[in-house]
Amino acid sequence: MKVLVVGGGGREHALVWKIAQSPIVAKVYCAPGNAGISEQATLVPIQANDLNGLLDFAMKEKINLTVVGPEEPLTRGIVDLFESNGLSIFGASRKAAELEGSKAFAKEMMKKYHLPTGDYEVFEDRKKAIDYIRKQGAPIVVKADGLAAGKGVILCKTVEEAIRSVDQIMVEKIFGEAGNRVVIEEYLVGEEASYLAFTDGKSILPLASSQDHKAIFDGDEGPNTGGMGAYSPAPVVTEEVNQRIVEKILRPIIQGMAEEGRPYKGVIYAGLMIHNGHPKVLEFNARFGDPETQPVLMRMKGDIIPILAACISGNLSRCKIEWENKASVCVVMASKGYPGAYEKGKVIGGFQETSRMEDVFVFHAGTAMVDGKFITDGGRVLGVTGLGENIPKAIGRAYQAVEKISWDGVQYRKDIGKKALCWL
Ligand code: AMP
Ligand code: GLY
Repeated sequence: MKVLVVGGGGREHALVWKIAQSPIVAKVYCAPGNAGISEQATLVPIQANDLNGLLDFAMKEKINLTVVGPEEPLTRGIVDLFESNGLSIFGASRKAAELEGSKAFAKEMMKKYHLPTGDYEVFEDRKKAIDYIRKQGAPIVVKADGLAAGKGVILCKTVEEAIRSVDQIMVEKIFGEAGNRVVIEEYLVGEEASYLAFTDGKSILPLASSQDHKAIFDGDEGPNTGGMGAYSPAPVVTEEVNQRIVEKILRPIIQGMAEEGRPYKGVIYAGLMIHNGHPKVLEFNARFGDPETQPVLMRMKGDIIPILAACISGNLSRCKIEWENKASVCVVMASKGYPGAYEKGKVIGGFQETSRMEDVFVFHAGTAMVDGKFITDGGRVLGVTGLGENIPKAIGRAYQAVEKISWDGVQYRKDIGKKALCWL
């Protein structure tokens, strides 16, 4: 069969890498992809948001399955468009993806279906938002309602900071239209985890747990990024916590979405805060996490295609996934300046050495090829992923590879996976 993967980041490289291993896949395309992805797939120069361009390509090439990486094509309705043209596509429909596209909608769903989450209110009026902040006190969290590339959340230590954030979002519109409404939320404490599950709208098939590292600097300091590294499994997700996530969070939300006439098929990502063994939902995403997908798929055994197909056909209850009984750690190597304005076009060295290393895979995110050389072409450039018997060994493996790669201005965190060590 022929598969098209939509997107061009590290997550999409991991998807392409896994899909290309399927014995039933003859050819993989990726639109637009990146220089690293071109080693496993044919790149198609169509942007992930060019829905009609992608549809034309899929029709012309008779693509059997399309897999969508990023949120924007999902919230814009790529799944609805492909399905109405008779094409098979893996991902959440437009109405289902609203769970990610609107934080206010997501919170209403959590309230209605009794999912554990922080207290909150939604405001379209600046003054009412400010009154509520004064009443609640700090610390408190201010969120832009719409999509803001993972940056629309401001954690405020003081009431003044929270008021300032409301003004930035609603008046100065630093996140554009995403800031027409704000969600003001209780500040939750605990340890975070990312929990992804496949679903066909009825059954749920969890992926291995993972933990992201959102802040740019070691020790979770500095501004938030798209994610600077991740590991799997996340020891904070004990067997008991795992059960609570499935029973108190995933089942009710999937059932709730069906009841609302928004059947949810694809992959659902719950961002969780876990305190004393009790998970609360921070957010839902309607897609695979980036960089979580890189270490999670490194551990997944077997063929991913039958699972993706079962999510679409409604036969997921017959599927199961086996996981490598090892840990994996992904360290993101980023450009100087990221998550702010960053440099591009630097020549990357060291791939000859890392390509010879066992239990290591270097997933590309922002890379391009110029004159036969890999150059940096984005904020997050690489996701260097290592596999090991346990977390400390996987950390060691990933960083051994990281140390072999370099370019002018490279930055990465030195403490990916460290939080897992206190559980050992
Ligand atoms: P989100 O995009 O909603 O996941 O928020 C990004 C990050 O902000 C999360 O990964 C958390 O680290 C943090 N965050 C979001 N909401 C809360 C909250 N209610 N309490 C504490 N931290 C939060
Ligand atoms: N790693 C966070 C995200 O994919 O949203």
